[in-house]
Amino acid sequence: MCGIVGYVGEGEAQDIILEGLARLEYRGYDSAGISLLQDGALATCKRVGKLAVLRTVLETTPLRGRLGIGHTRWATHGAPAEENAHPHWDVAQDIAVVHNGIIENFQELRQELEATGIVFRSATDSEVLPHLIQQYYQGDLIEAVRLALQRVRGAYAIGVLHRGEPEVLVGARQGSPLILGLGQGEYFIGSDASAVVKHTRQVIYLNDGELCKLTPAGYHIIDMTGAPARHTPSTIDWDPVQAEKEGYPHYMLKEIFQQPEVLRHALLAYVDSKNNIEMPDLGLDSQRLAGLRRIVIVACGTAWHAGLVGKYMVEQFARIPVEVDLASEFRYGNRVLDADTLVIPVTQSGETADTLEAVRIARTNGAPVIGIVNVVGSSIARSADGVIYTHAGPEIGVASTKAYTSQLCALALFSLYMGRIRNTVTPEDVATQLTQLREIPGKLEQCLEQADAIAACARKDHYMHAKNAMFIGRGVNYPSAMEGALKLKEISYIHVEGYAAGEMKHGPIALVTPELPVVCLAPQGSVYEKVRSNLEEIRARGGVILSIATEGDDNIKTISNDVLYIPACAEMFSPLLVAAPLQLIAYYIACGLGRDVDQPRNLAKSVTVE
Ligand code: AGP
Repeated sequence: MCGIVGYVGEGEAQDIILEGLARLEYRGYDSAGISLLQDGALATCKRVGKLAVLRTVLETTPLRGRLGIGHTRWATHGAPAEENAHPHWDVAQDIAVVHNGIIENFQELRQELEATGIVFRSATDSEVLPHLIQQYYQGDLIEAVRLALQRVRGAYAIGVLHRGEPEVLVGARQGSPLILGLGQGEYFIGSDASAVVKHTRQVIYLNDGELCKLTPAGYHIIDMTGAPARHTPSTIDWDPVQAEKEGYPHYMLKEIFQQPEVLRHALLAYVDSKNNIEMPDLGLDSQRLAGLRRIVIVACGTAWHAGLVGKYMVEQFARIPVEVDLASEFRYGNRVLDADTLVIPVTQSGETADTLEAVRIARTNGAPVIGIVNVVGSSIARSADGVIYTHAGPEIGVASTKAYTSQLCALALFSLYMGRIRNTVTPEDVATQLTQLREIPGKLEQCLEQADAIAACARKDHYMHAKNAMFIGRGVNYPSAMEGALKLKEISYIHVEGYAAGEMKHGPIALVTPELPVVCLAPQGSVYEKVRSNLEEIRARGGVILSIATEGDDNIKTISNDVLYIPACAEMFSPLLVAAPLQLIAYYIACGLGRDVDQPRNLAKSVTVE
């Protein structure tokens, strides 16, 4: 969602901020803007649409200055329009503010400010901030921001400038991410590390309730009481090149093809040569883990699908009951939680608002929390008792691909680790499973080698121009069907449903016509025959069937219009393999339809508001 970049130093703020905003484009946005301190006055430029539109304007009329803030806005309050784009400023145009989050009491604050004669220019909740800060300003910007924020309820990450303090950039965070980038004589704020990584790898992750004051001479962090806050800078351990397309036409395609390497990396990180699974950052000792009575996995979207697969894995190997909840339902569901229930948030970004709130609720209710997280240092990684990092590297495409398979891998390893602790699997069982898991990256490569054939299949008229489609699967591949459906719908805009194959006769089979493509997950395994029966029923009603089956299963061709093959593998790990053709089907259909694959309409990569 909204992206924030701020800069103070000796460089050209406009160029640095635009470059940072470009790195945050992947988060999703519909307008962009920038404010600089130029010749003692605030100079602002905002435009609706992509950053390129703003960039074109700034090429002809550049803003010059050494202090500035920039923003990409994903509309919440007020349509995507120039007046609603950030930065916002106060009446005297002394103060400029960029904001990510939602100010819940903005109506009340707005009425109060309007009563003093202030006329608002936008429909946003964010515009209350510059007016409010102005009310408290007495020559010290960070103090005015601190006092103003005490009036604010909701979530925010902000960047603030004041015309009278030409070397001061102020940031603050509560519930929305904000990092500080530490350079030599120059300092940055950003919504995440990618905004600053070109300039520095030294960052500080601001905590909720903290404010920072940056000048070319250094930085100072305080809490909401005004007391200084101590931080040790962290070093970003990935290269900026990792966040580039590296020759691929889209980030999504690059990330699909990175999956074998990501999985190998994750396996190396957690499994030693003697088949011991080491998870050093779980934050709970073996005795506590062994005594757990229940696990609740909370997540959103693709991560929720990974959690659903994880349920099969944990229940199979560790024999402990698992519930999987959508974080947005969990947070208002008054769930039964206690010290013997482990809550596992699964999240790529580590910043998803609902998942973060689920973590807070779990901890408040005394439940231990272990996060399965990709982004190191993210809010969820830092607020859980322990963490299993998925080691997927930066994922830029809005459609989650390598993050998903890395989550499956982490869940598989965690389930085997728990199985050993609980004595529900023997060391020999673990060794056998790990041997099969280690084969997955190579087999995934074989799936990806078929990309051209998958593209040719996806581009067939009856798939690419379908108005509706259905994905079905059973057992551990029922979540795969939902994930395949989500992938296709979010980037192609085709209406797609993911269903448990066994549910077809309970309603959805009424939809089957020769115009309805059904993508069926039918790898060999315990439910294969059942899935075949479901296929026969769809076939008998004229449905168009694309099956994903195990190599050597020639027979399935007799009941399918098309078949894509995956190598034979352990049933429990088959979701890792079927993910590849599902992702590629979605990718090639979306490309064929001319969609914006990496930044689909209305979507944001990191959903930092509820
Ligand atoms: C899926 O392709 C989406 N990117 C989305 O469903 C995503 O998985 C969801 O928003 C959760 O994000 P997180 O993993 O960063 O928490």
